Amino acid sequence: MTHDHSAPDIAAERARREQDLLERVLRSFDDCADPRLKELMRALVRHLHAFLREVRLSEEEWRKGVEFLTRVGHITDDVRQEFILLSDVLGASMQMITMNNPAHGDATEATVLGPFFVDGAPRIELGGDVSGGAPGEPCWVEGTVRDTAGAAVPGARVEVWEADADGFYDVQYDDDRTMGRAHLFTGPDGEYRFWANTPTPYPIPHDGPVGALLAAVGRSPMRASHLHFLVKVDGYRTLVTHIFVRGDDLLESDTVFGVRDSLVKDFESRPADTPTPDGRAINGLWSKARFEIVLAPV
Ligand code: BEZ
Ligand code: FE
Repeated sequence: MTHDHSAPDIAAERARREQDLLERVLRSFDDCADPRLKELMRALVRHLHAFLREVRLSEEEWRKGVEFLTRVGHITDDVRQEFILLSDVLGASMQMITMNNPAHGDATEATVLGPFFVDGAPRIELGGDVSGGAPGEPCWVEGTVRDTAGAAVPGARVEVWEADADGFYDVQYDDDRTMGRAHLFTGPDGEYRFWANTPTPYPIPHDGPVGALLAAVGRSPMRASHLHFLVKVDGYRTLVTHIFVRGDDLLESDTVFGVRDSLVKDFESRPADTPTPDGRAINGLWSKARFEIVLAPV
């Protein structure tokens, strides 16, 4: 008797073989002594195989994917971390932050660190200048650091960094300049204040494979204008965040999904010759922003 393989038979047989293979791979972790590693590897394999099967990946597409990841590896070194950039544009970095910084009362929300934080930025006093001479429109930023019960947090280390008006961080120039970054400590009432530059939009590094990926999918590499903060003090969860500029067109399309409504602040524009909070003479436009920071306990 001949058996006539109908189309449903072939599809069922294919699915059975695919499932068989998946189960064999999952069983290969049975003897893993580390239960967490076992859980991670099994879930990774399940999701990877589900992806391959869902999209029916062709061998040509698989090869292109491997080549892409190879390029991501090749361009990565001590200062350029293309894997983190990939995680950023896929929203994975922001998902990690969302998962690992659960809301705590009205504690300030966290967002991405980004690749341009540098340890050991210069110290400035309260009211000092973060810009270090970087080109841009001056901006007075002030606020307080408090805990979730409303008590002032004195002596908190507040690190601030930002791109210049041309869209570059100091470390992107090859002349060893230090500009647009500094740290200061909150005063006895948790207060802080400094001059910086009004944030402007800039692209993430897009001359590598991640930039090529964004171009291929029709996405912009631009980040919404922002000023980075890292606030650290014993007894509290370290806060890595930014403030964004209300009215910025890029708030909805920030390429690393870093914007949170609570972090969008008014940067009030002040005409030239308006007296500044500390009496500093400025002969052009300047702006002013307030950012109240609330730290969650560890
Ligand atoms: C940044 O804001 O500095 C940044 C964040 C993620 C990727 C690239 C840059
Ligand atoms: Fe940035």
